[in-house]
Amino acid sequence: MKVGIIGSGHIGGTLTRRLCALGHDVTVANSRGPESLAGLAAETGATAGTVDQAVGAAELVVVAVPLFAVPNLPTKAFDGKVVVDANNYYAQRDGDIPDIADRSISSSRWVAGHLAGAHVVKAFNNIQAQHLLEQGRPAGAGDRIALPVAGDDEQAKQLVMGLVDELGFDPVDAGTLDESWRQQPDTPVYGTDRDAEGVRVGLASARP
Ligand SMILES: NC(=O)c1ccc[n+]([C@@H]2O[C@H](COP(=O)([O-])OP(=O)(O)OC[C@H]3O[C@@H](n4cnc5c(N)ncnc54)[C@H](OP(=O)(O)O)[C@@H]3O)[C@@H](O)[C@H]2O)c1
Repeated sequence: MKVGIIGSGHIGGTLTRRLCALGHDVTVANSRGPESLAGLAAETGATAGTVDQAVGAAELVVVAVPLFAVPNLPTKAFDGKVVVDANNYYAQRDGDIPDIADRSISSSRWVAGHLAGAHVVKAFNNIQAQHLLEQGRPAGAGDRIALPVAGDDEQAKQLVMGLVDELGFDPVDAGTLDESWRQQPDTPVYGTDRDAEGVRVGLASARP
């Protein structure tokens, strides 16, 4: 699959490494430009690009940036794309975003508001980058970690669930973007590396 990855840090860099190793055609971009990505490109075989290049050719785009940077992205370029929102809201880093802070809306609903033409799916936000890098396991393994996947577009969600499985994790359908607060920071499934049944129980028992 042609994958664009926006952000080359802990999560974007990890997904660049893992998806390239699986044979996907990855273009990665960051805020400093392609020259700064020469090392990652040489290591993985990914293409270093601009944000527009990474989004333009992609069948699927991962956004892994500090949440405050989302409105600075070229939002029109995302129209019609399946976009994985791997981001979390941390007020100390992202500043005051009142609608998220007062829990009126989920952080992915806020992202979807900025990327209004995209099919946004929330995934990978609740696992530490190092675990995403190292703890993928074959289907059926007893210690396979499960990851919640939430989105409004069923086809887009299925595409992302397939990718989660390919990366070595059990995808669990976590409902719609409005329900995706159940996998945000401070919920039972956040950073806890549960199996599929544990994720289902954790999503159901999350409290606003
Ligand atoms: N760290 C984790 O284990 C983890 C786990 C799950 C989810 N998350 C979430 O994933 C997101 C990314 O976290 P991270 O830890 O990967 O952050 P990070 O290591 O600080 O990397 C952030 C990346 O975003 C890029 N960026 C910032 N503004 C940009 C813009 N306007 N256009 C293009 N790229 C831009 C940065 O570019 P430069 O490299 O040029 O500065 C950098 O590559 C956050 O929302 C975080 O909460 C993190």
